Amino acid sequence: MIVPTGLKAGIAGVGVCLPDRVLTNDELATMVDTSDAWIRERVGVRERRIADAAQAASDLGAVAAARAIGHAGVAAEEVDLVIVATATPDTLFPATACIIQDKLRLKNAAAFDLAAGCSGFVYALAAGSRFVESGLYRTVLVVGAEVLSKVTDWSDRETCILLADGAGAVVLRPAAPGYGILAVKLGADGSGGRYLRRPAGGSRLPHTLKTLAAKLDKLQMDGQEVFRFAIKALPEATLQALAAAGLGKEDVALVIPHQANRRIIEAAARRLELPMEKFMINLDRYGNTSSASVPIALHEALESGRLQDGDIVALTAFGAGLTWGSAILRWQSPAGRTT
Ligand code: UT7
Repeated sequence: MIVPTGLKAGIAGVGVCLPDRVLTNDELATMVDTSDAWIRERVGVRERRIADAAQAASDLGAVAAARAIGHAGVAAEEVDLVIVATATPDTLFPATACIIQDKLRLKNAAAFDLAAGCSGFVYALAAGSRFVESGLYRTVLVVGAEVLSKVTDWSDRETCILLADGAGAVVLRPAAPGYGILAVKLGADGSGGRYLRRPAGGSRLPHTLKTLAAKLDKLQMDGQEVFRFAIKALPEATLQALAAAGLGKEDVALVIPHQANRRIIEAAARRLELPMEKFMINLDRYGNTSSASVPIALHEALESGRLQDGDIVALTAFGAGLTWGSAILRWQSPAGRTT
């Protein structure tokens, strides 16, 4: 396969799926010892969406994906590859990407899942863009889909106030010259894995009555350690990816960060010496949807007119692993695409 010089992948379509059920802070305060005021002040969340008992990651992911495909104006048969970033797959196997491939009848698409915690979408974007740039594939669907409510310990006030459900998806296609994903930087520090994990259910600790009784099938987090890591990772990953694109922070029109905690984003803004207006925030309404948070925020940025053709945009995330990643794009309005 000939690799076209300088070909970049661009975002040709975006779609989201948010469950209807809204869980407010006041409702949470009836479940654990917390308050609306504490959650708003320490995290910045007012409410979040929670999936129905019957909904799995592929249900939300397939709706978001179908919307992204519709937005891009491509036919189902044109999709060459589906990558799903998720920490809450329907099953450990088959991959949630295969389930979505089947639901949407993407009969010409290969499919796989990718696990990189809350950085999953940025990792998947990096992987997907390489398939387009290499010329191997022309249309790649990248999905972030999570039903974190199913792995939440609803008696743990440090985590249950943060986590939420949702899905976001993008379609990657060749971008017009000068546009698209200009650079990506990914990183990991596995020594920090213990700070954010779901201990049981894998080959290390299969589910037993004992693991279930000890709630080892639920997400566990050392909030302060993750916070310390996040306030460093978010600005550093953004700066590194900008440098790889030959750009500086002054070039950025909008940073779309992982939506974990408003204070983390504020700390990153201070370190980057960028005004808060340059950060897309919607965690107040959707909480932390892990690998879905960046595409959900991207969709809102687009819908609310915060993305203009030619804007430099940074998509930056951090999460379990520990992992981090940032992708720098020159935004090409899907409506104005020429390819
Ligand atoms: O996607 C990545 C995943 N996660 C994250 O990014 C999370 C990163 N960490 C955080 O966002 C914050 O560490 C938390 C929101 C989890 C906690 O906020 P904090 O400001 O770091 O609180 P803290 O752990 O320092 O606790 C301060 C106090 C403690 O009480 P005492 O010991 O001072 O009496 C906690 O017990 O706040 C208490 N506290 C709460 N109070 C009311 C902890 N959680 C709650 C709560 N409601 N939900």
